[in-house]
Amino acid sequence: MLDAPSPNDLAPFWMPFTANRQFKSAPRMLTGAKGMHYTTQDGRQVIDGTAGLWCCNAGHGDPRIVKAIQDQAAELDYAPAFQMGHPKAFELASRLATMMPGDLDHVFFTNSGSESVDTALKIALAYHRANGEASRTRLIGRERGYHGVGFGGISVGGIVNNRRFFGSLLAGVDHMRHTHLPEQNAFSRGQPEHGAELADDLERLVALHGGETIAAVIVEPMAGSTGVLMPPKGYLERLRAICDKHGILLIFDEVITGFGRLGSSFACEHFGVQPDIVTTAKGLTSGTVPMGAVMVRKHIYDAFMHGPETAIELFHGYTYSAHPLACNAALATLDVYRDDQLFERSAEMAPYWEEAVHSLKGLPHVIDLRNMGLIAGIELEPIPGQPTKRAFEAFLKCYEKGVMTRTTGDIIALSPPLIIEKSHIDQIFETIADVLKTID
Ligand SMILES: Cc1ncc(COP(=O)(O)O)c(C=O)c1O
Repeated sequence: MLDAPSPNDLAPFWMPFTANRQFKSAPRMLTGAKGMHYTTQDGRQVIDGTAGLWCCNAGHGDPRIVKAIQDQAAELDYAPAFQMGHPKAFELASRLATMMPGDLDHVFFTNSGSESVDTALKIALAYHRANGEASRTRLIGRERGYHGVGFGGISVGGIVNNRRFFGSLLAGVDHMRHTHLPEQNAFSRGQPEHGAELADDLERLVALHGGETIAAVIVEPMAGSTGVLMPPKGYLERLRAICDKHGILLIFDEVITGFGRLGSSFACEHFGVQPDIVTTAKGLTSGTVPMGAVMVRKHIYDAFMHGPETAIELFHGYTYSAHPLACNAALATLDVYRDDQLFERSAEMAPYWEEAVHSLKGLPHVIDLRNMGLIAGIELEPIPGQPTKRAFEAFLKCYEKGVMTRTTGDIIALSPPLIIEKSHIDQIFETIADVLKTID
């Protein structure tokens, strides 16, 4: 039946994280993308305020990245990932190791953020075992954290709807409190002043479980998908100190914050806090080919390099780990970031972006505004008894008016490509302001 004509029916595709029935009754179809804009099926240009899903940091359709993917498909379409290699995988790992701060100099390739998170959690558990501390089996996440959709990721994650439908999840997981303190920190610019002491929640969990049972703590240094929550000043430093005190590995999930989003290459560099493991994806290939990477510190990799040389050291990997197309897309993307100085550009644009974000203060429904680098959270007051409805309405109206936004709960999240110009910023925020004045 492969060659049977199929009707152009919207029903068979079960869309992810989507209100399927609403979408299929009024589809929002994208058919092209170039630079800062999407083209819709009805021929409209929509400015991309979200870099796709926080991933197209180099903008859309960059010819250098497109060519790298095309060339690679013709040269080497696939190479087995286990017990075989291809040069571009090693080249990419070396370049990432050079970019990362400190001795985060070994790289494990995955195909998504979710796989990066599960890989990081597994490496943490296996590391302690290899290191003679097999009692360290507990994993700690944080309320409101988003770490993708694998069982590891939803277990350490803290977004209720991502967890409540899926059974009992991983055993031996606990959560710290989230860091959202709107009463004290509303309308902060950059890192909020209050909340460093929330890191002490880790001490509470150490007291409860025993530090020697905890393998790792995972946090997003800036929490994106839960609605853009910046780390309070001093919080990440304090978390690092508590992890050091108890021999706990600190994992930064940089799937969103990696590759220039905050105006530095990575959040760990931005905040000057050294994690033991970093998870990435998205901006690694500017969203063009699925790929993720997990960077680990030298002592973690070294702990596995024992035993007979012919023995596999880590029983983990994916058929498409370091896929040639993804590797070449990532290499070309890193070239674009370097040649066009996009991380620097992100930092340069950040003050203009910040002013634009905070210009929304005082508009109807706005109860908080948050920003850092090229990222923003616009929190709206929920309609009583109908959470998420107001923000979703704003999303639909913005799309009609030619601006792509993203919502989570009643928060509008923005994270444009790093190639954004001031005129684009003006257009995005003028449109949002207009929409906020018209919706109920
Ligand atoms: C911090 C973080 N971790 C993990 C993920 C999951 O990535 P993916 O959707 O590529 O599996 C995301 C996706 O938004 C994310 O923001």
